[in-house]
Amino acid sequence: MNGGSFRRHRRLRTSAGIRNMVRETHVQKEDLIAPLFVKEGEGIQTEVPSMPGVYQWSLDLLDEEADEIVALGIQALIVFGIPSSKDSCGSPAYDDNGIVQRAVAQIKERHPDLTVIADTCLCQFTDHGHCGVVDNGIIANDPSLELLAKTAVSQAKAGADIIAPSNMMDGFVQAIRSALDEAGFVHVPIMSYAVKYASAFYGPFRDAAHSAPSKGDRKTYQMDPANRLEAQREAASDEEEGADFLIVKPALSYLDIIRDIRNHHRLPIVAYNVSGEYAMIKAAAANGWIDEEAVVYEKMLSMKRAGADLILTYFAKDIARSLTR
Ligand code: PBG
Repeated sequence: MNGGSFRRHRRLRTSAGIRNMVRETHVQKEDLIAPLFVKEGEGIQTEVPSMPGVYQWSLDLLDEEADEIVALGIQALIVFGIPSSKDSCGSPAYDDNGIVQRAVAQIKERHPDLTVIADTCLCQFTDHGHCGVVDNGIIANDPSLELLAKTAVSQAKAGADIIAPSNMMDGFVQAIRSALDEAGFVHVPIMSYAVKYASAFYGPFRDAAHSAPSKGDRKTYQMDPANRLEAQREAASDEEEGADFLIVKPALSYLDIIRDIRNHHRLPIVAYNVSGEYAMIKAAAANGWIDEEAVVYEKMLSMKRAGADLILTYFAKDIARSLTR
């Protein structure tokens, strides 16, 4: 007799203690990567209107934010730079004295044990806002590679622990890997934005980083949201070219993709929980329509459950705070 002819699944849900014993997925501080927007100038601590709780910081005020991230027990952050000038080939991106390079050096000096990741792209630094150089209205792949490789090397020189290229040009991992190796940075890993969709969820980031393309869109280099096999092809070539981590971006509308990549790759996977995904939750919570803390935790679990090892999220500080409580 087992109490009937059906299974009693509820036995394992009887108490908090038993539920804790059988929980399959966990979110911990070590999973989190906190984004940081650093802007050239002075006295800047400006909240991004579409991203409540997220600020642009100038270097003179940046220590405060980095200190808080460290105090909360977060072990990694990613730096996005907003330069004061732009040009057609994005030269402030590979200036050894550029905003990302200076921010990285400053943070590493103050927090040597914090893992500092540099986002490697040209779109914040080009006057047309594209992630590569534009030639006759076309985003030129190969000429862009050289500039991206230069950017990565100069970020590594500044002390970046990990290079995170987000530009979606073909061959960018190989170009950056060989440039880093040649410059003596064989030990610096590449966290590749391997699978990056042309998503409407990046809207608030483009406000924050002033990186919206002035003409056209990013559909000739970022992926079509309708495609799933293409994500496998992108991830496979980045792995072959030497990527050390694979990012899937955005995350929440692409949990199937995270699972596909997990099933076919053995590299660590990063889910990029993007700006629009953050803004939606903040807006609903501000209206009192959802329980923000519970919803955020559930979202984090969903990315881990789908197969992500790490989560890059604007909620990083909020989550670290609630994990501390
Ligand atoms: C730059 C870059 C973007 C994001 C991260 N790096 C914008 C884009 O591709 O348009 C978006 C991040 C977010 O929405 O949180 N290439």
